[in-house]
Amino acid sequence: MEHTPRKIVQVGLGNRTYPILIQSGVLQLIGRDLLQRKVAKRYGVISDDHVASLYGDRLMASLTEAGLAAELITFPRGEKNKNLQTIGALSSELAARNFDRKDGLIALGGGVTGDITGFLASVYMRGIPFVQAPTTLLAQVDSSVGGKTGVDIPEGKNLVGTFYQPAAVYIDTDALQTLPGEELLGGLAEVIKYGIIADADFFHFLENNREPILALDKPVITETVARCCEIKARVVEQDEREGDLRRILNFGHTIGHAIEAASDFKLIHGLAVAMGMCAVVRLAVRTGCLATEEAARIINLIQAYGMPVTIPAELDRNRIKGYLLTDKKTVGGRVFYVIPNHIGEVFITDQVDESDIDQVLRL
Ligand code: NAD
Ligand code: GLY
Repeated sequence: MEHTPRKIVQVGLGNRTYPILIQSGVLQLIGRDLLQRKVAKRYGVISDDHVASLYGDRLMASLTEAGLAAELITFPRGEKNKNLQTIGALSSELAARNFDRKDGLIALGGGVTGDITGFLASVYMRGIPFVQAPTTLLAQVDSSVGGKTGVDIPEGKNLVGTFYQPAAVYIDTDALQTLPGEELLGGLAEVIKYGIIADADFFHFLENNREPILALDKPVITETVARCCEIKARVVEQDEREGDLRRILNFGHTIGHAIEAASDFKLIHGLAVAMGMCAVVRLAVRTGCLATEEAARIINLIQAYGMPVTIPAELDRNRIKGYLLTDKKTVGGRVFYVIPNHIGEVFITDQVDESDIDQVLRL
């Protein structure tokens, strides 16, 4: 393992500070690391049935070889199971196995597993420790970092949840090898988002490294994931509970969610976010905030990674607008937009004319 690319990013939150270890093959090293960190006495590995079949044995072997007691507990995969019923079933399972306050959880899987496990850890016995082992690109660069947990209810996505930070995040970039192409693209939309909102140099890196990134070249993908985690960590350190700054992470998401909903969720989230980012970029040009050359670079990059840059013609614009106005991120009925004024620099505003929104949705 000596020559394996490895990066460590710290999320600095006082006595809740935690490391993010990004390394090819790190799933095999989690046992040894947790033994040193002494996060818990025994571990419940929570995973969806699909990820459990791919990586459950690997992680369990790492834990048992380090002499740690661990049990694998699964739930059926998919967003439709990110709900309170699953939390109830998993809580009963933990109780039946006598998990107590000294025990901890490991989230092995994508964002659905991370959100469920984090929420479960925050409420089981009023809170037990947990760590993240994300296996999708989206979870590696976004959902496993920052402590947002939660589940969906019929009234909306992520409406029940907590802020609850993990004790550590272990990112095994090898897991990306088995990820379906569409899921990889979904994660790449978030990767590009970071360049646009916070780091022109990283944006340039993404322009220059498309091929090795898409080929999951080990050093390049390790660097890519680490830089995203670094940006997210710096944002979360300054605004853990999304009072203000953390909202920049929603760049492209408000319009993206509306597009996703108007497609009756046939469009995958990441691709809807890509379209949402392009729409906001056009809005920024229209309102004189962003130069056309910079907008062209952003749209070209999104396209170069194989993502759509326009909203499908068949989607009803009025439905998209309807969803925009009811987005859960609206505050007091006002819709906030994250607008780029340069690559690497954005601002948040609710001062956007409806006619400008109509125009960019039409494109
Ligand atoms: P997911 O967890 O459902 O994973 C997508 C699919 O990929 C699943 O079917 C899963 O079984 C499969 N999979 C996972 N890893 C795999 C691998 N290595 N190889 C093959 N298949 C694999 O979904 P996701 O896209 O990872 O996450 C989406 C969720 O994340 C949403 O619920 C969203 O709300 C949440 N989210 C949370 C935050 C946060 O800050 N907490 C941020 C962004 C998104
Ligand atoms: N994905 C947005 C956030 O973590 O705040």
